[in-house]
Amino acid sequence: MISKETIQLIQNSIKIEEIVGSFVNLKRRGSNLLGLCPFHNEKSPSFTVSPAKEIYKCFGCGKSGNSIGFLMDLEKYSYVEALKWLANKYNIGVEETETTPELKLYQQSSDSLFIINNFGQKFFSEALFETEEGQDIALSYLKERGFREDIIKKFQLGYNPETGDSFAKAAVVSQFNPELLQKSGLVVLRDEKLRDNYRGRIIFPIHNQSGKISGFGARLIKKNDKAPKYINTPENEIYVKSKILYGSYFARMAIDKADECLLVEGYTDVVSLHQAGVENVVASGGTSLTPDQLRLIKKYTNNLTIIYDGDGAGIKAAVRGMDLALEEGLDVKLVLIPDNEDPDSYVNKIGPSAFKAFIDLNKKDFVIFQLGLSLKEAGTDSVKKSAIVNRIAETISKITKAEHFTKRQDYIQQVSEMLKIEEAGLNDLVNKFIREKIQKEDNREQTNIILKKEDELSQVQKSEGDKLDSLFNKDEFQERAIVRSLLEFGLKKWNEEITVAEYIFEQMDENDLVVMIENTVLIKIINNYRDLFSRGENPTKNDFLYFEDEIVSRLVISLMDTQTEISSRWKEHLEGEILTRNDLFKEEVTSTLSYFKLRKIKKLIDENQKELEKSIDEADQFLFLKTHVELKMEEQLITKRLGTVIFK
Ligand code: CTP
Ligand code: MN
Repeated sequence: MISKETIQLIQNSIKIEEIVGSFVNLKRRGSNLLGLCPFHNEKSPSFTVSPAKEIYKCFGCGKSGNSIGFLMDLEKYSYVEALKWLANKYNIGVEETETTPELKLYQQSSDSLFIINNFGQKFFSEALFETEEGQDIALSYLKERGFREDIIKKFQLGYNPETGDSFAKAAVVSQFNPELLQKSGLVVLRDEKLRDNYRGRIIFPIHNQSGKISGFGARLIKKNDKAPKYINTPENEIYVKSKILYGSYFARMAIDKADECLLVEGYTDVVSLHQAGVENVVASGGTSLTPDQLRLIKKYTNNLTIIYDGDGAGIKAAVRGMDLALEEGLDVKLVLIPDNEDPDSYVNKIGPSAFKAFIDLNKKDFVIFQLGLSLKEAGTDSVKKSAIVNRIAETISKITKAEHFTKRQDYIQQVSEMLKIEEAGLNDLVNKFIREKIQKEDNREQTNIILKKEDELSQVQKSEGDKLDSLFNKDEFQERAIVRSLLEFGLKKWNEEITVAEYIFEQMDENDLVVMIENTVLIKIINNYRDLFSRGENPTKNDFLYFEDEIVSRLVISLMDTQTEISSRWKEHLEGEILTRNDLFKEEVTSTLSYFKLRKIKKLIDENQKELEKSIDEADQFLFLKTHVELKMEEQLITKRLGTVIFK
């Protein structure tokens, strides 16, 4: 946990115009600053930053918030990651409380590895551009392949000279620790001497989500049958292969905008497509997609388009991750590149606009494609065919989310046609797999309950601090927002007759509290407030800040710290002026309560969905679907009434 003092220091240093300004070109306009919105495509600027109020607001798409929210939205950082980014920007040492010695060591070693990699990147870039060997051998090679200098610089490509130890020597002169140097993979120990590991190779730095270099891919320039074409960084604290998507740092905004992520195999594919103006592209590094990589993609979009060579080997590799992708609700499409080309060579061959058109024209649904492929392979072999039926039914059974129900039915229809089997029969088979899965999950749930009990027991023995941690990490934004509205605005007048507190209590009965709020401390605050209030006292947040129970006071502190997006119906309220939460407390209270209701509906939808997934009788399915639609409509109604989202 980052210490309160550090957070305070960070908060004191934040200048929103500097933070937003690191990503957006801002021009001063009166007391505000103006720029092109990074969250949506626009030609004329409607993205406003108010330094005085420490907030930003886009009048085009409605996004708004403060500095930390900006980083969380744009960079998809967690709260803690955003704080760390800020600390780094303002040179504030991050003091972490309650870190174990192991964790501390781990962090120190991670930090050093990043520094070494950074040093390495600079060295290799200089070797590429500034040395004769680099220019003659490496830069000329890259240029021959068609890479422009601006793209080479953007991706920070470099070159490790052939002399056995020029990098190792430079690193030792700069006093880097030899053990860490080996851990970074940049040097190896041979005959008790440190030598460069990537001699004579083009260097592709691999950036993590926040643009720091976590590792490298190094490609041979000269063909050499004895050495592998690529060497990659060995697994270490900051390079975990299963979590890496090459290019994701450069692609994230484009993926967000296009609402689609293109997946290719190689480093050169990513760089070439960027050069061609296709920027929503990442590479898996030639292996099958891992759950972590899928999750990373899903942070940005639900639409994944895999672009692979037409030879089939690559497709097989990609296939392994596919069931998981469907389960996660990703929509997966596939494009095959013809003529033994890969995306890099193909875009160079036919040019950017033809390439883009080719992709758009040749996108195929992945499941259907996969089926076509296996059917071709099976030919007339009936044993193989029935294996295919089973496999495809299992694949389809992974689609269990209610909102994808029609997609599942579509698949069943299409697939039964392709296989020339009865639709009802396939439907039954799919249901069989769903049933089996649920049974497995039920078993797991049983085990989980037992484990949880054991957990709770050991939790009691843990320190008070740990308990507090888990208390604050829970995702309970709406509940917290209600309590915050109560503490901050409770005594204000809601209308002529009642106060905000009275209004909140009117809208939310005690039963709601117990059913919807898991955190007993929040319930405790609300009930205490109600007690004080009914006794004719005027409770404020101070009553709880200095509450005898430390858990209560710490929760209240963290509530007051929570960064909030500013309100919804801006256009009605403002003519170019940015209002604060205090100006708009009625809207905040209304929307907070609406969100609470929304959550209640979501909970009902979830429960209904579980029933739907379990049901195999068509009449039942119909009823559950009907309920689903009704609940969804109610959900939409509230969402609409809420206008733009206020709390996330
Ligand atoms: N790869 C690897 N190790 C290897 C070969 C390949 O890690 N020995 C990974 C790299 O990430 C590489 C990707 O698999 O980018 C695809 O391999 P390949 O198609 O052989 O290379 P390209 O990226 O196409 O490189 P080039 O165009 O220079 O041949
Ligand atoms: Mn290639």
